[in-house]
Amino acid sequence: MRYVLGLDVSTTATKALLVNERGAVVATAAATYTYSTPAPLWSEQDPALWWQAAISSIRAVLASAKAAPEQVAAVGLSGQMHGLVLLDAADNVLRPAILWNDQRTQAQCERLIAQVPELIQLTGNTALTGFTAPKLLWVKQHEPALYARIAHILLPKDYVRLQLTGTYAIDKADGAGTLLFDLARRDWASALPELLGFDPAWLPPSFEGPAITGQISAAAAAATGLAAGTPVVAGGGDQAANAVGTGAIDPGVLALSLGTSGVIFASTAAPIIEPAGRLHAFCHALPERWHLMGVILSAAGSLRWYRDTLAPSQDFASLLEPAAAVAPGAEGLLFLPYLTGERTPHPDPLARGAFVGLTVRHQQAHLTRAVLEGVAFGLRDSLELMRAAGLRAVTQIRASGGGMRSALWRQILADVLDAELVQVNTSEGAAYGAALLAAVGCGWFPDVASAVSACVQVTERTQPSAQRDSYTAAYAIYRELYPALRDSFARLATLAH
Ligand code: XUL
Repeated sequence: MRYVLGLDVSTTATKALLVNERGAVVATAAATYTYSTPAPLWSEQDPALWWQAAISSIRAVLASAKAAPEQVAAVGLSGQMHGLVLLDAADNVLRPAILWNDQRTQAQCERLIAQVPELIQLTGNTALTGFTAPKLLWVKQHEPALYARIAHILLPKDYVRLQLTGTYAIDKADGAGTLLFDLARRDWASALPELLGFDPAWLPPSFEGPAITGQISAAAAAATGLAAGTPVVAGGGDQAANAVGTGAIDPGVLALSLGTSGVIFASTAAPIIEPAGRLHAFCHALPERWHLMGVILSAAGSLRWYRDTLAPSQDFASLLEPAAAVAPGAEGLLFLPYLTGERTPHPDPLARGAFVGLTVRHQQAHLTRAVLEGVAFGLRDSLELMRAAGLRAVTQIRASGGGMRSALWRQILADVLDAELVQVNTSEGAAYGAALLAAVGCGWFPDVASAVSACVQVTERTQPSAQRDSYTAAYAIYRELYPALRDSFARLATLAH
């Protein structure tokens, strides 16, 4: 039996999985770590943690499958997007990586927007604190001595790639997430290094997801137990790799992931840009595909907060069951899910959660239903932006994440988003997508579409019901609430310290 190995270098763990030629996951292993917050708004991680975790998870997954090194045909990489890794000319790490969830760069974002008027048209995105380019500008301003020693810029999984293969490379999806990519050309925007005053030689060459970027080196073979010479493909940033892993690769097929945050991801056959940059527009992890993405920060996180705070003794199933008997709209009760601020469509760290419309008639079941509906409305905001930007018919939404365990939430989402919601047989997310890209790279499949149709099957379908129109009026009022409350949220935030 031959395998491909998918590796996902996430914010909390590096996960390895082995997939056989039929697409089945035969073993998984993960090694965890934490990130540090050395100052308010900062989020950093030592790249050595990723490499150590990669070594131990690769060793563990090979041992668990009793796989010989030669049985691994190729390796695919995925990982947290946007993080900035800085190396000197001898590949020494210059400082801890600055991660995607670091918020220190507001001033640099404002400067970038002013300095590059064509930023949205060129890169598909406006400057957000999470992205890579503002982090580089922050280092330039605040750590000039260190900045002067930079020879290479990498993203987290590409630092692991360097350890595995000795080569500098990045995939197109992660490239687009740096805010330094020409979205339409799928490569570095040649004007930006000069405009921002850095050497373009710092940037690694970029590759399509299934392309081979190097081979396991002798040193990495000794460290990980893989065979020297095993090819390593480009892979993809975690959102794009996750979409490959759930089979969301064709226009009209969306991916929805309902974890702590909620992500709605639409593949497109050409770059589509939201004119104000309120959606992310990146390259997909397969050639000739792009994607639009909206992120709400508290999705299943809202339900968890609600349960932990207002119903701590109840399990989710018993809490949700009575909410099924409440009519859509929760009898005039709305919930805003902005418990940790918001990203799409309101990029506002001071946005706050709210129940609006409470009366004495409302019981726990109404509040529960309002939470489920409020998260669905938040996701619909992203979908509406996508439609307005030019996304045509939505044929199917491939949903994953803990929130999907609830049949009631699935039905609410199918109704509010007005599309068929399906679940698939693959549940290993980005690591699985990275493994499929490796399977294409080593020739098991001619392209990503063939790999997806051979390996990803729909297991559960939820169609929009007759109730879909019952949400129209409530959603219209939901959309009015953030603009009405924005200033109050900002003033409330000043009272919270
Ligand atoms: C994507 C993003 C996150 C990280 C998390 O834009 O910021 O999904 O990739 O790993």
